[in-house]
This record gives sequence, C-alpha cells and structure tokens, in this order.
Amino acid sequence: MMQQSEFKRRRRQLMRLMGDNTIAIIPAAGISPRNRDVEYTYRQDSDFQYLTGFPEPEALAVLIPGRKEAEYILFCRERDPEKEMWDGKRAGLEGAAETFGADDAFPFDDLEDILSGLIENREKIYIAMGKNPDLDHQIGEWVLNIRENSRAGIKAPLEFVDLDHVVHDLRLYKSRAEIAVMRKAAKISAAAHKQLMKVCEPGMNERQLQVEFAYFCGQQGAVEQAYPSIVGGGDNACILHYIDNNEELISGDLVLIDAGCELACYASDITRTFPVNGVFSPAQRDLYQLVLDAQHAAIAAVKPGAKWDDPHNAAVKVITKGLVKLGLLKGKVSQLIKDTAYRTFFMHRTGHWLGMDVHDVGDYRVADVSRELEPGMVLTVEPGLYVARGSKTAKKWWGIGIRIEDDILVTKEGCDVLSSAVPKEISDIESLMATAKK
Ligand code: GLY
Ligand code: MN
Ligand code: MN
Repeated sequence: MMQQSEFKRRRRQLMRLMGDNTIAIIPAAGISPRNRDVEYTYRQDSDFQYLTGFPEPEALAVLIPGRKEAEYILFCRERDPEKEMWDGKRAGLEGAAETFGADDAFPFDDLEDILSGLIENREKIYIAMGKNPDLDHQIGEWVLNIRENSRAGIKAPLEFVDLDHVVHDLRLYKSRAEIAVMRKAAKISAAAHKQLMKVCEPGMNERQLQVEFAYFCGQQGAVEQAYPSIVGGGDNACILHYIDNNEELISGDLVLIDAGCELACYASDITRTFPVNGVFSPAQRDLYQLVLDAQHAAIAAVKPGAKWDDPHNAAVKVITKGLVKLGLLKGKVSQLIKDTAYRTFFMHRTGHWLGMDVHDVGDYRVADVSRELEPGMVLTVEPGLYVARGSKTAKKWWGIGIRIEDDILVTKEGCDVLSSAVPKEISDIESLMATAKK
C-alpha cells in the first residue's frame, strides 16, 4: 500500500535532521503473550513502521547518516523453513535488503556484537528514551565499555538525543501517500457507521453493532480496529471509555458508537450518536443539535494559521451558550466559560492528532503556545455532552450521552472532512433510518 520510496524518503529526512557523526537505533515492537501459547495479534511499533515498513517482530533498524558502507542497517530474523512452516514467512536478510531497501542486513541474534561496534565514534545516539528500558540499559553499557576500553582514535558517544521528538514531528505532517491511506480508512469506517444506522433496532444488543462494524470494515479490507469500539446505549454513552458493549438497546434511548478501523497502520476515529428507534425525542434533539452546532463551529475553525486551541474554544463557546439557553447551566456565558462550568457535561477536549496512532504523536504546544495548524496535519473534532442518570438536572436530560466525531485534514484552503460520508444532521439520520426500515 505504501511504496518503498516513501519509507526511503522518510529515512533521508530523518538523517538530514540528525546530522553527521550520529546514529539512530529503532527497535520493532515486541510480541505480547495473551495466554499460554497464544499471542496478541502483532502490531508493528508506529515509529519503526513509519521508517521501515518492515512488518516483523524481532527486528531493529539502525540509521547512520553519511556512513559509506551502509547508512540503513536492518537486524532481523533469518529465514528458517521449520519455523516458517509454523508461523509464516519471514523476509530474511535477503528480503530486508531487496524488498525493504536496507543497505545491509544482519541476524537479530548478532545484534549485540555488531551494534556495539556501530556506535563507536558517533557523537550522538538517537533513541526513544525510556520506551525500551532494556535497550537503554544495553546501549548505556556499550557506551561505558567503549569509554573504558577506548583505544587510540576510538571515541565514545557524548550525547543521547530523544529520537521521539524528531520522528514525531515528522509524523505530524502527513504526506500525500499517508493522506490517501487515511482517506480510505475514514471512508471504510464512515460506510460502516452508516451501515449501523441502517441495521440498528430496539432489542438488539450493543455487541451486535460492534461486530457488524468490524465485519463491515473487514469486508472492505480493514481487519484491524484502531481502538476498541465503544457502543453505548442510553446511560452507557455517559461512560466515556465504555467498551463492555453487552447491554440491550432500548427504544427511546440514543446509542453512541465510537469506532474506527485501522488500515495499513493508519487509524480512523469516528463517533456517531443516533436514536435506537430512528426518531429523536425532543430532549435528545435539543442536546444533539447543540453538539452538532458546536462541532460545525469547531470544524469551521480548522484552517492553516489557526491555533490548535481554536476549534476547542469555538466548541466550548457554542456549548456553554446552548447549555444556558436549555437551562442546564445558569449564569453569564463569559464567566461560565472562564470557570469551565461546561466541564460538568463536556469533560474532554474537542480533539487530538490522528495518524498511525489514534491519539497520534506531535506536540500540541510549541514554546508554550498553542500550535499553529498547517496543511497536512490531521486531527479529530469531537465535542460531546453527557448527562448521566442521577445528574443534578431536570430528569428529561438523564441518560443522554452524545458525541459527534469526524476526522479532519488541514488543507491549504481550510480543511477537508475525511469522514463526511456518514450522516450527522438530524433529518439525514432520521430519513436514512426510516428508509432502511421500509
Ligand atoms: N476513540 C478514541 C477517541 O475518540 O479519542
Ligand atoms: Mn477521537
Ligand atoms: Mn473516537
């Protein structure tokens, strides 16, 4: 899905930023045991994937800018017909070079002997500090060793630099190829959400919608989910990270579905909230329209030059005003905003970066000010309102939890809603659900 030239370009970009006399050490994700003899489905580490596209565990990439013999070295598993018969094919050393573009490849088992030599005479070592304590420790020992045994002419590295900081800033700006994958992931998830609106009926269990979503995405080629789906009917929608998804969906309640597939290691992240029986009650309609207005206002604030905080502030303003109008908050709007009074009902931020990780990497503040939005950044816009049963409000609002979430690409002109194919206006949802039931 992603060309090798794309990974090569990223490595070049990183090596340019690292400068001469440096080395970067990037390990693949480990294997996580699930239970006896069973492992969790393997998911490559996002930084490793970003720089190599190499999908296997027990691997480690090394970048040494300007090194004549080889700038990009990949340690990986060797071919092994016996093991491959059980666990599937391996690229091997040959594949690492030929298919994945490594200048040189060595067996993962020889890591210690070779890597300790490669760090000699490098002034700076780039690693993701603290993320792999064993590796940090190992590298520290090699550095000490070099220092203690330094022969004439061999120098030990002087500095450790945090690799995350550099790679994560690169990852924040999506390339054309990344945008194409993210657009496709959002399109698949949007179609799956639409499908749920069509099939939802009172008496179904939340989990039926969860598995329908996964099935629909899988049929379109996206077998993995970017995060565990949230399917919350009625009051369950007020539990922000509700993933039990095992209760009956009741006529008269809303259902909140926060679900997104992962495609080629890129996430989508969409939430829709709709009436289980296809028709919004007056109270649901009031709160839903308020969240939707807040979301429209927030999306309108996404454009180059705007600040990261602008969409959130736009949503907060609309929501606070609306809550006063509906009688859920009392007081002067400006003061209520200052006091963050809206947090009783809207207790999370309006969004986050989106990319290989659902809560993607990249700083939200730079030099202690809210970051400027630039073309190529992708973020979510997801305001919500949650009035749990038993809240200090009129009873008519109880058990209403609403979030509306879309995936937004910042463009030169403004923004592009990647997930726009799934309805969110009240009339569009009601008519889609009514048509599907005919
Ligand atoms: N699905 C996680 C989130 O919306 O942030
Ligand atoms: Mn989100
Ligand atoms: Mn979400």
